[in-house]
Amino acid sequence: MTKLDSVGYGVATGKIILMGEHAVVYGEPAIALPFPAVRINAKVEKIAQSIVELDCYFYQGPLTEAPQQLTNLITAIKESLAVLQQPQQGFKLSITSTVPAERGMGSSAAVAVATIRALFSYFKQPLADSVLLELTNQAEKIAHGNPSGLDAAMTSGSVPLYYVKNQPFAPISLNLKAYLIVADTGITGQTKKAVADVAALLESHPQEIGDKIVTLGNLVKQSKHAIEENNPVLLGGYMNQAQQILVDLTVSSPEIDLLVAAANQAGALGAKLTGGGRGGCLVALATTKSAAEQIEAALIEAGATITWIYQIGEK
Ligand code: MEV
Repeated sequence: MTKLDSVGYGVATGKIILMGEHAVVYGEPAIALPFPAVRINAKVEKIAQSIVELDCYFYQGPLTEAPQQLTNLITAIKESLAVLQQPQQGFKLSITSTVPAERGMGSSAAVAVATIRALFSYFKQPLADSVLLELTNQAEKIAHGNPSGLDAAMTSGSVPLYYVKNQPFAPISLNLKAYLIVADTGITGQTKKAVADVAALLESHPQEIGDKIVTLGNLVKQSKHAIEENNPVLLGGYMNQAQQILVDLTVSSPEIDLLVAAANQAGALGAKLTGGGRGGCLVALATTKSAAEQIEAALIEAGATITWIYQIGEK
């Protein structure tokens, strides 16, 4: 019998896709980085009853009867218990989060990662990176429908990646002297629907949309060189070109377009949506802290609900 600690903890950070969202679903590369400014903490505690209590999701009862909206979380719990060879039993899961939900920052994957870590810690079992990734991917398939695996890779790992679906992870060194300004439109993004809509668009206009996806992939490859050469001006230009393609793919939104324009007018080297789009967050680029602060002020003025300034490489 496993001797149980009565509490287990798990943590996960959010993520930012710098370049390549949506195209990554079709095998093109993406560049993404962990975003430690936002994180999720999960705590699993023993309780007397043999029910699961999902504190902050207001659910108490058997796992099998948990509400449909929680299926990604429930998948993470059920699959973890299966790997841990534990029957369903009573515990309380509490989650605190500073990752804005449904804003393209990997909230659903991060919730799964933090929960899986907390469960393994609760049962005092080691958790291999490959097992964490596999379990997170299973939960993400429920949340996103047809995920590229990028969100699971980013939130379960801790290094920037040059990510290509179904290929071994390639960490990328972001030796770029630059600041990212991240801003939330305050509008809930719709990753699952946006991904499905791009798929439908590709089916109805295979040549035109296929070309745009390949162009987006090429911009990611060029961005990798710009980063390696520490050339933020070039990278910013690629970000603006990527944003235009994301608009063409119908995954931007009037709120994102407004904030992108505000960032560029305030001197950003480039700005684009990050994540699934249709709301959610955008990311802008600057080379100095004072330029970043000026862009942040313009974004707030234009209606951003939350903003962050992140110096690339900062832990
Ligand atoms: C979502 O964060 C990123 C998308 O490319 C979807 C995916 O990669 O699964 C839109």
